[in-house]
Amino acid sequence: MKKSYRILIVDDEENVRRMLTAVFTLDGHQPICAADGSQALELFKQQTPDIVLMDIRMPKLGGMEALQIMRKAHQDTPVILMTAYAAVETAVEALRLGAFDYVIKPFDLDELKLLINRALQLKSMKQEINLLHRELSNSYQWDRILTNSTKMMELCRDTAKIAQSNASVLITGESGTGKELIAKAIHYNSPRAKGPFIKVNCGALPESLLESELFGHEKGAFTGALMQRQGLFERANQGTLLLDEVGEMPHNLQVKLLRVLQEREFERLGGSQTIKTDIRLIAATNRNLAAMVEQGAFRQDLFYRLNVMHLSPLPLRERPEDISLLAQHFLQKFSAENGKEMIELDASTLAILESYSWPGNVRELANAIERAVIMSTGFIMFPDDLPEHLLPQQSTQPTFDSGHTLENGQSLKESIKAYERTLICTALTNNHGNRVQTARALGISRRALLYKLQEYYID
Ligand SMILES: Nc1ncnc2c1ncn2[C@@H]1O[C@H](COP(=O)(O)OP(=O)(O)OP(=O)(O)O)[C@@H](O)[C@H]1O
Ligand SMILES: [Mg+2]
Repeated sequence: MKKSYRILIVDDEENVRRMLTAVFTLDGHQPICAADGSQALELFKQQTPDIVLMDIRMPKLGGMEALQIMRKAHQDTPVILMTAYAAVETAVEALRLGAFDYVIKPFDLDELKLLINRALQLKSMKQEINLLHRELSNSYQWDRILTNSTKMMELCRDTAKIAQSNASVLITGESGTGKELIAKAIHYNSPRAKGPFIKVNCGALPESLLESELFGHEKGAFTGALMQRQGLFERANQGTLLLDEVGEMPHNLQVKLLRVLQEREFERLGGSQTIKTDIRLIAATNRNLAAMVEQGAFRQDLFYRLNVMHLSPLPLRERPEDISLLAQHFLQKFSAENGKEMIELDASTLAILESYSWPGNVRELANAIERAVIMSTGFIMFPDDLPEHLLPQQSTQPTFDSGHTLENGQSLKESIKAYERTLICTALTNNHGNRVQTARALGISRRALLYKLQEYYID
């Protein structure tokens, strides 16, 4: 059975009140009427309607003022304004003050009903989202590592214990699973927390540069060594050194690293003075080091020295319970960073995120959400806001005109855009310019359509 809603209708024109009352009663709802803003506020307080439809210009108290008071009392109750004046500024001001949307009189009843449905849907979705937020605040967090997965919680507990020791740690896992995050958590929860945390990417530098980066050099050690320079083994003294992508470390340096690990001492390049260093070593890699040892690509003795403690964060697809949690977390983060009002996830958007395999793991998820926050035009994130490759292939795509070929000098992207513009214009014409129907025909949200209309300068 269809749900019955209490709809507060506020208008000083009796005709409008009577007409809307009849329409909504027929639809099985319970309309209540007020003839001005102050009467509306009385009813709003007494009867707590599910939604409010309100005229802007009214005697006693106008719609804009009543709107503000209602928003303060019940933020969740959507208010749709009706105005006979097609003044854009008023409408924009109304949205700024928190109106859900506005309609211009005389309005199309179907369009108004659709708007009411969406507002009510949104309201129930927001209530669901509040639940999700509660889930977010109930979820497990250690340092900056957030998770709902039992296995990852165990990993965090192990990490906390390991942090207290001075043992070398090997962190293995796919790209973007949080290896660096774990390394930092170890450092900042260890007795060395006040010392430096230094990371070096062993795969990013050619052998000779990496060597002088790690060991430092004396003046004149090689051409270009104009001054003495401290290496990372020295600079990380009393702190932690993260050797990232340790699987890429050249063989010759593997031998030298082994000595530092065993003796805790070394010499700068071109120097003879032995320097003592007190560092904790953490190594990270997305390669299978044990297999590399078997193939002779990584020294076995070094592997054992590094692998005193081993941590291995799971790929995201093996802990799907973390997808919604982390998505909410990144939404909050990037909404704030981009100065956007809190953007919420639509249920279908979440479903897409949860069914994707995330080969780039948490980093890929973070990037996808950041991009979508920047692209989204409303305060709800719809599937169209997501990077296209995340979306499942649509079966209801308009048939492609096989005669369509690339214009001279046009790139594939430009050509696709031109074709998209044509499809939208055709759909608009077919639907007599009605945007709600056009969006439905194209299978996209109204907001997505508005965005495309702006993008393609379609009036
Ligand atoms: N459980 C988590 N909670 C919150 N943020 C996370 C979590 N896991 C990863 N991140 C974030 O995801 C991003 C990628 O994590 P990180 O850099 O630690 O991955 P990585 O395993 O070192 O990747 P790579 O192998 O590519 O270097 C970072 O911005 C990190 O803060
Ligand atoms: Mg990393």
